[in-house]
Amino acid sequence: MVVKNVCCIGAGYVGGPTCSVIAWKCPDIQVHVVDKSEMRIKQWNSDKLPIYEPDLEDVVRECRGRNLFFTNNIEAAIKAADLIFISVNTPTKTYGIGKGRAADLKHIEMCARTIAEVSEGNKIVVEKSTVPVRAAESITHILSANTKPGVSFQILSNPEFLAEGTAIDNLLNPDRVLIGGEESEAGAAAVAELTWIYNHWVPPERIITTSTWSSELSKLASNAFLAQRVSSINAISALCEATGADVTQVASAVGKDSRIGSKFLTASVGFGGSCFQKDLLNLVYIAECLNLPEVAMYWQQVTDMNVYQRTRFAKRIVECLFNTVADKSLAVFGFAFKKNTGDTRESPAKYVCSHLLEEGARLNIYDPKVEKIQIEHDLTCPTLTNEPERVKKLIEIFDDPYEAVRDAHAIVVLTEWDEFKKFDYKRMHEVMKKPAFVFDGRKILDHKALIKLGFHTETIGKRFTRNSLLRSSGEHFPAFAWTP
Ligand code: UDX
Ligand code: UDX
Ligand code: ADP
Repeated sequence: MVVKNVCCIGAGYVGGPTCSVIAWKCPDIQVHVVDKSEMRIKQWNSDKLPIYEPDLEDVVRECRGRNLFFTNNIEAAIKAADLIFISVNTPTKTYGIGKGRAADLKHIEMCARTIAEVSEGNKIVVEKSTVPVRAAESITHILSANTKPGVSFQILSNPEFLAEGTAIDNLLNPDRVLIGGEESEAGAAAVAELTWIYNHWVPPERIITTSTWSSELSKLASNAFLAQRVSSINAISALCEATGADVTQVASAVGKDSRIGSKFLTASVGFGGSCFQKDLLNLVYIAECLNLPEVAMYWQQVTDMNVYQRTRFAKRIVECLFNTVADKSLAVFGFAFKKNTGDTRESPAKYVCSHLLEEGARLNIYDPKVEKIQIEHDLTCPTLTNEPERVKKLIEIFDDPYEAVRDAHAIVVLTEWDEFKKFDYKRMHEVMKKPAFVFDGRKILDHKALIKLGFHTETIGKRFTRNSLLRSSGEHFPAFAWTP
C-alpha cells in the first residue's frame, strides 16, 4: 500500500496545523481533516481560522480545496482513508476514578469505535494525541473486537511535539519525528508507510522508530522534563529574590554547561498550556497505579512548584501594594499562556488574576490575541470561582493598553508578548495612580528605564530595592547575604 488518502480526526491545535503541513508538503496525498464540531469546521473553511499560529493561514490558503479539506463528514473520510490520525483532545479527567489526574480517553475510544464501524478495507490508525502509556493497546482491543471480515488495522504511536506559537516551524523543522509500532512484519510495514509521508520533507536521520510503548512514554517524559526545567529555574528564582542574586545571570551561567543547555531556563510566573500540567498529572497517576509512589511524588513536585510560583507572585503584588488591592484598579498585560498564541488553557494569568480578584482588585485586562469572551469565560468558570457575578463586575477587557492603565495602581505583565516591550511607559506613568507599580512576571521589560521613569518595579528572580528584599524575608533574613 502507498498512502494516498489521509484522514485526521480532530481539527484542533494539533490536528489542524499538522495536517495542513502534511497537505502542503505532500501534494500527492489527499488530506481530510474532520471534527464533530460544525463550528470548528466552518471556521477552518473561513478566512478567520479557529486558532492563531504564525504562517498557518498561508499554508491553509495554498492547500485548502487542492488536497486539504475540512469536513464534518467523519464517516465518509474514514472510509476513504488509508491512514487515520487520531488528534482528539485528551483532557485531565474531571470525574470518576483518576479525577483531576488521569487522562480522559473517552474521545479516543469514540474514534476507535467509529473507525471499526465504518471501515471497509485495511487501515493504519495513528495515535497523535498525548495518551497514557499503553493507550494504543486499548485502541487495538476495541478495533480487533469490532473488526469486520476482510478488514485489518495496524496501530501506530506518532506523538506530536509542536509547541504553540511556533507550530508551523516545529512541523517543518522537527528535532525528531517519533514513530512507535508493533514489533512484527505488519507493524514494520505500517511504520514504513508513515515514514514515507514524513520523508517528503524530514531528513531520514530525524525519523526515529521505537516500540509503541516507548513512543508513548517518550511523549509524556519529554513534556515532564521540559516542565521540570521551568520549575527548577523558578525554584531558583525564589532563592534569588530572597538573597539578592539575579536569576537571569544564574540561568545564563548554568545553561552554558553543555550538559545542561540554555533552553527552557527562563524563570517566569509559571508554565501553562494544555500539555505540561496534564501530562505531569498523567505521569503521576500512572506511577501511582503501578505502585511507584516515589516516582509519583518526584513528578508531583514539579507541578506543586508551578502552583507555588504563580501564587507567590500574586501574593507579592498584594504585599507591595501596601497589603491591599481591594477596589484598586490593576492593568493586566497578557492573558494567553505564552506569546504568539490566543490559547489560555492552564494560563498562569488565569490563576494570578483569580487570586487578585479574590482580594477584591479590579482588573483591566489587555491581550493582543485572546478574545474578550474567552477571558470572561475563563475567569468566571466554576473551577476558578463560585462568585461569577462578583467577578464579572470586577473585570474589564480593553482593546487599548493605554486605556487599560488609566487610573491604575499597577501594571502586571503575565504574558511575554513582544509588543509590551515597545509601549510608551512614560505616557502610561502619567495617567496612573502614584506610586505607580510594575510587576513583570515575564522579565521582559527594561527595568532600569522603568525605575528611572518613577515606577516601583518588581520582577521574577530579582529584587531592585533593599526594602522589598527585607520585607519578603522578614526577621529571618541573614544580614550577611545582602550588601546594598
Ligand atoms: C560533578 C560535576 O559534573 C562537575 O561539574 C563538578 O565540578 C563536580 O561534580 P563528578 O562528581 O566528578 O563531577 O562526576 P560526574 O561525571 O558529574 O558524575 C556524577 C555522578 O553521576 C556519577 O556517579 C555518575 O556515574 C552519575 N551519572 C552521571 C549518572 O548516573 N548518569 C548520567 O547521565 C551522568
Ligand atoms: C509544549 C511542548 O514544548 C511541546 O513540545 C508539546 O508538544 C506541547 O507542550 P506548548 O505548551 O505549546 O508546548 O508551549 P511551551 O513553549 O513548551 O511553553 C509551555 C509553558 O512554559 C508556557 O507557559 C511558557 O511560558 C512556559 N515557559 C517555557 C517558561 O516559563 N519558561 C521557559 O523557559 C519556557
Ligand atoms: P488538541 O490541543 O489536542 O489538538 P483541541 O481541543 O484543540 O485539542 O482539539 C481536539 C478536537 O477534537 C476538537 O475540535 C474536538 O471537537 C474534536 N473531537 C473530539 N472528539 C471527537 C470525535 N469523537 N470525533 C471528531 N472530533 C472529535
